[in-house]
Amino acid sequence: MENYLLVTGGAGFIGSNFIRRCLSVRPDWCIVNLDALTYAGNPANLEDLGPNLAARYQFIHGDIKDTALIDRIFSEHDLGGIVHFAAESHVDRSIVGPEAFVDTNVTGTFRLLEASRRNWGKGNVKKFFRFLHVSTDEVYGSLGSHGYFTEETAYDPSSPYSASKAASDHFVKAYFRTYGLPAMITNCSNNYGPYQFPEKLIPLMILNIIEERPLPVYGDGKNIRDWLYVVDHCDAIIKVLEEGRPGETYNIGGGAERENIEIVRLLCNLMDTRLGRSGDKSSHRLIQFVADRPGHDRRYAIDATKIKNQLGWKPGHEFEEAIEATVDWYINNLKWVNSVRSGEYRKWIETNYQGR
Ligand code: NAD
Ligand code: TYD
Repeated sequence: MENYLLVTGGAGFIGSNFIRRCLSVRPDWCIVNLDALTYAGNPANLEDLGPNLAARYQFIHGDIKDTALIDRIFSEHDLGGIVHFAAESHVDRSIVGPEAFVDTNVTGTFRLLEASRRNWGKGNVKKFFRFLHVSTDEVYGSLGSHGYFTEETAYDPSSPYSASKAASDHFVKAYFRTYGLPAMITNCSNNYGPYQFPEKLIPLMILNIIEERPLPVYGDGKNIRDWLYVVDHCDAIIKVLEEGRPGETYNIGGGAERENIEIVRLLCNLMDTRLGRSGDKSSHRLIQFVADRPGHDRRYAIDATKIKNQLGWKPGHEFEEAIEATVDWYINNLKWVNSVRSGEYRKWIETNYQGR
């Protein structure tokens, strides 16, 4: 009961998977989850931990920008580290309303860094302390048909989301260089898996297929993302937290590049099998090419050589198997889906897809 970890944004998609994974594979870790419960945060994501894991888990409803609250968490717990997931995370939302992204991703990260600088190394903070900033490959901008993002690739963000994550990454690096805060950054490719909010490509398509709604594919559908199963991302973060070197950046990727249209067609096939649809009832009839996303990055692909060679991490799941498990998870958890689709969600879907 002595290794306290503060996780921010642990009621979201990756954060909740991370907490579940950590509590299972690290039986001596205790986790404090600080989450503001925005539209994307759902305490239901961790409702079923069971008594063994729940005994080492504490939830605090609050904002990463609340400096006094962060100071209090530092003073009440002997923190060995912070894993910082909390963010506004959806590119389309950042196009419609960028300010929230600056507020949470830039100012929020800055305040968390400041609180860490103030509290690190004094009083109730362990000698071993790490600040792990969870970031995205989108900070590198877009690739053409060749090449990969390495840790040396220059930042070139395209959307307000990726610009805000890039800004926060720069602050993290500056706090290491200027103040010696033992901070590290992970830049990861697109994740998929259970508990992803159904505004993102894969869960949105699965649910629209179930409900026989249009499947909106942006532009020509040939944009490429490098997909990683969320549990593999969580294992990579644990590796970096335990064995990564302060001041370093680690790229994390699945090595599973797919065009968006390939993903959508695959989901139609998997769902048709499960729903008994074929012929002119097949879900493929629902595919609709719609107006492209402004500033839409063409291709993301990660070179994960560094984390593989230095820390011995590689993805543990094959895309073909994990995507099937994901599809089955959504089909079997429609109660969860309904609980997260608030009035706000329905309003977003109406705004984003109207006129596309
Ligand atoms: P998410 O949107 O599902 O969850 C974000 C969580 O942060 C929510 O629980 C929300 O309530 C919380 N939050 C938002 N603002 C907050 C604030 N001011 N204070 C406290 N909590 C707040 O996001 P996700 O997909 O789980 O992504 C988590 C992190 O991983 C983000 O930093 C994102 O940039 C990064 N990332 C995501 C992906 C991906 O494919 N989803 C890939 C690479 C990196
Ligand atoms: P998304 O899940 O929003 O992740 P990101 O923008 O962070 O990569 O989108 C993944 C890809 O799918 C991206 O190229 C945009 C595309 N997309 C669609 O074609 N239709 C949709 O309805 C959504 C949400 C995304």
